[in-house]
Amino acid sequence: EGPQPLAGRHALVTSGPTHEPIDPVRYIANRSSGKQGHAIAAALARLGAAVTLVSGPTRQPDPAGCRVVHVETAREMLAACEAALPADVAVCAAAVADWRVAAEADRKLKKDGSGPPALALTENPDILATLSQAGPRRPALVVGFAAETGDVLAYAAAKRARKGCDWIVANDVSPGTGTFGGSDNTVHLIRADGSDSWPTMSKEAVAARLAEAIAGQFERR
Ligand code: PMT
Repeated sequence: EGPQPLAGRHALVTSGPTHEPIDPVRYIANRSSGKQGHAIAAALARLGAAVTLVSGPTRQPDPAGCRVVHVETAREMLAACEAALPADVAVCAAAVADWRVAAEADRKLKKDGSGPPALALTENPDILATLSQAGPRRPALVVGFAAETGDVLAYAAAKRARKGCDWIVANDVSPGTGTFGGSDNTVHLIRADGSDSWPTMSKEAVAARLAEAIAGQFERR
């Protein structure tokens, strides 16, 4: 056991994809494996935080020392996050589906000869924005992620401002980077007053460095 600078702090972490049902057998999803978010939960727990990890469907084992809430949809993820408050810090690493099917069918959609069904989509709640704008229940430090496929720093900085979080961890998820599902990540940590570009490292190392930065922020208070 090393130093426990986050002892007494509650950290809320989201990880993994969400699954948005189309009918009882089909869903909309994305390529998030949960590796990055789960590693962050584990790293915060190692620094002494009480961690609530709200995870979408993944193959990752529950990280040691964390309370894990398993959810499927964005709406369930938001409800679990709100139920976990208050928290001192929130880190939103989940790849939440921006849209869900507006009217989930309660029976399997059939090939009935009338051609493919048209799926009308509706917007999901934004968990990061909701936590960032939660008034008196807002965690003191809210950290988002930004998954971009070009102009990473510019889009991520705009996302930080728009959603109202304190820091945003920007990563490039273009095909060939391996960011989704891979074991390494190349990130930029963007704050209100500037940004740092970290070298490529394992997702565990990104998590450890982010957890240290979070601990440093609380020590400074
Ligand atoms: O899971 P891995 O395979 O290890 O991959 C890691 C990762 C690529 C998923 C991760 O590093 C990452 O970038 N996570 C954020 C993915 C994402 O959906 O980014 P975004 O730019 O679409 O969303 C911006 C932020 O808003 C994120 O903090 C996201 O969690 C949050 N969000 C988005 C939509 C929504 N409805 N609710 C949210 O909270």
